[in-house]
Amino acid sequence: MAFKTIIEPFRIKSVEPIRVTTREERAAKIREAFYNVFLLHADVVLIDLLTDSGTGAMSSSQWASVMRGDESYAGSPSYYRFEDSVKRLFPFQYIIPTHQGRAAERILFSVMCRPGDVVPNNTHFDTTRANVEYRGARAVDLPCPESRDLAAPSPFKGNMDVEALEGLIAREGRDKVPLVMLTVTNNSGGGQPVSMENVRAVSRVCRRHDVPLYVDACRFAENAYFIKLREPGYSGKQVAEIARELMSYADGCTMSAKKDGLANIGGFLATNDGELARQEKDLLILTEGYPTYGGLAGRDLEAIATGLEEVVHEDYLQYRIASTEYLGKHIAEEGVPIVQPPGGHAIYVDAKAFLPHLQPLQYPGVALAVEFYVEGGIRGVEIGSVMFGHVDPGSGEETAAKHELLRLAIPRRVYTQSHVDYVVEAIISVWKRRNEIPGYRIVYQAPFLRHFTARFEPLKL
Ligand SMILES: Cc1ncc(COP(=O)(O)O)c(C=O)c1O
Repeated sequence: MAFKTIIEPFRIKSVEPIRVTTREERAAKIREAFYNVFLLHADVVLIDLLTDSGTGAMSSSQWASVMRGDESYAGSPSYYRFEDSVKRLFPFQYIIPTHQGRAAERILFSVMCRPGDVVPNNTHFDTTRANVEYRGARAVDLPCPESRDLAAPSPFKGNMDVEALEGLIAREGRDKVPLVMLTVTNNSGGGQPVSMENVRAVSRVCRRHDVPLYVDACRFAENAYFIKLREPGYSGKQVAEIARELMSYADGCTMSAKKDGLANIGGFLATNDGELARQEKDLLILTEGYPTYGGLAGRDLEAIATGLEEVVHEDYLQYRIASTEYLGKHIAEEGVPIVQPPGGHAIYVDAKAFLPHLQPLQYPGVALAVEFYVEGGIRGVEIGSVMFGHVDPGSGEETAAKHELLRLAIPRRVYTQSHVDYVVEAIISVWKRRNEIPGYRIVYQAPFLRHFTARFEPLKL
């Protein structure tokens, strides 16, 4: 008999207490943090949905692997175990470990991009965009048309607009486009998956123009599982097989092992191009470390090697996708507007639709982040105009982002269903008093990646 309840496919061996705070305490803490949830101390957060990155729980096998970590500076056996495990899913020739995803991005763009170049992506993640721009190149998002309608439940809203990619290459000229990137799943686009058909189509365009295709592979296993569930012809295939097929259409990838590596730190850069790999390793040595550890301890390499084996288990992925969907479904049933369908790693609340009385530059995503924290000690993150708005360096004039979202990212294997039920209750309680929620203005901001350190002040309603 098939059970309706999808359980957490693990039992708990070690517990970490979380601190319950009062509403008054939280109101004071968020004021002291200048209404920026990044500036809160984590011990005053009850349910931390700030990110799914590096926040997962490791398994007993991973902890056992940690003890096996070999800390040799060069040629550590832990590196070779890591490399084997990576190559089983990512069939690229050269695997370069890095301390996290953005280090892989920095090295990749330093080697491949020149000032004035253009890098297309289905949607750049913030660090990816910042690393492209830091190199003097332009990061262009080419999301598929279906992604514009947040409420439409299309199965592959993470896809790239292939026609727009053709148009961009024709307009800019092939020489200005050093690489194309595809982010799976599309984090900034709502955690939505990319279909295999779309990967193939993007790859065909890239091959025709002789432009390398790189995958931002952070959530490759969640993406592969969505392909298995939703794309014709894949239901009988194993997730590992689907992941390998997806990567086979690319020339390399960047990876943050803090997501689908099921590790707390780490990443890698992979490529089939020997000359590029040589240049990348030279840069790696300069800032990250020797190529067989790349800024990681041997024990971290071991944790990732085992994490990559576990992440493609289908009972894990079934629970993972079902628990994210559970949160989305229960708040949406009460009328809370979310990006549909629920993403793999997160629920994205449509803050503009939740707080229609606020203008985009009154930062509705920040307003919701503050309210969810004060209401229930829940920490989410704004993905809207603070993160992706544009500030003109000359005039200081600000342009809003396309969407104003509040992301609730679910750490892997950390919270149980009762935690999620509590989150649902708190969000519904904020929903009921939505008309009383004020907007915000920025009183301090850094010149890039301002969302991490910006300070805010509430506006009068
Ligand atoms: C899609 C995507 N790319 C790149 C990164 C950067 O990875 P890291 O945080 O390990 O530097 C992230 C992190 O959240 C991400 O979600």
